[in-house]
Amino acid sequence: MTLSSLSFALFLAAAGDPATGRGLFIGSLPFRNGGAPCGACHALGGQGLAFSASLGPDLSASLAGMDPEALDGLLDGLPFPTMVPVYEGRPLTPGERADLAAFLLPAAQPGPPGGAWRFELLGAAGAAVLFAALALASRRRKAPSRARLLARAANLPGGSR
Ligand code: HEC
Repeated sequence: MTLSSLSFALFLAAAGDPATGRGLFIGSLPFRNGGAPCGACHALGGQGLAFSASLGPDLSASLAGMDPEALDGLLDGLPFPTMVPVYEGRPLTPGERADLAAFLLPAAQPGPPGGAWRFELLGAAGAAVLFAALALASRRRKAPSRARLLARAANLPGGSR
């Protein structure tokens, strides 16, 4: 991190209010210029059901590891094709960008929530048990029915055994 982006981060931390950013994101607070709330189209993982919209990508993944200066540039330009017409002529104010950044950056997480591997392991173990049970069941079924068929064949008139 360069000195200028560090001071920029400090500036943002001082200027941005995460609670206001949250309100702007979900739409409980309006953008001054009338832009749509981000949460109408974007999820933000780990923040609950008010943050589960799915038209745009989940921002907790997109913004993971992004520095405040880059995010501010993004929020200033909003250069994404689907978003351009929505924010055309309705730019976010510098204060709104700072509030959004103060809310979004701490919420952005690298990768899936910790502990997700446990569910994958559990799923794999469950599948292994199921397959083993199926294999056992089909083995057991074969022996008696085969014996029954042989016995019946032997008892038939003209049976060779
Ligand atoms: C009308 C729906 C809509 C709204 C409202 C919206 N976005 Fe988006 N956004 C999208 C879509 C869809 C994409 C994917 C790129 C595309 O198709 O334009 C996107 C892409 C992005 C990306 C890039 C993500 C990536 O992984 O490439 C960021 C960052 C972003 N939006 C932030 C925001 C923020 C912050 C707001 C609120 C100020 C917002 N968006 C409001 C629909 C929306």
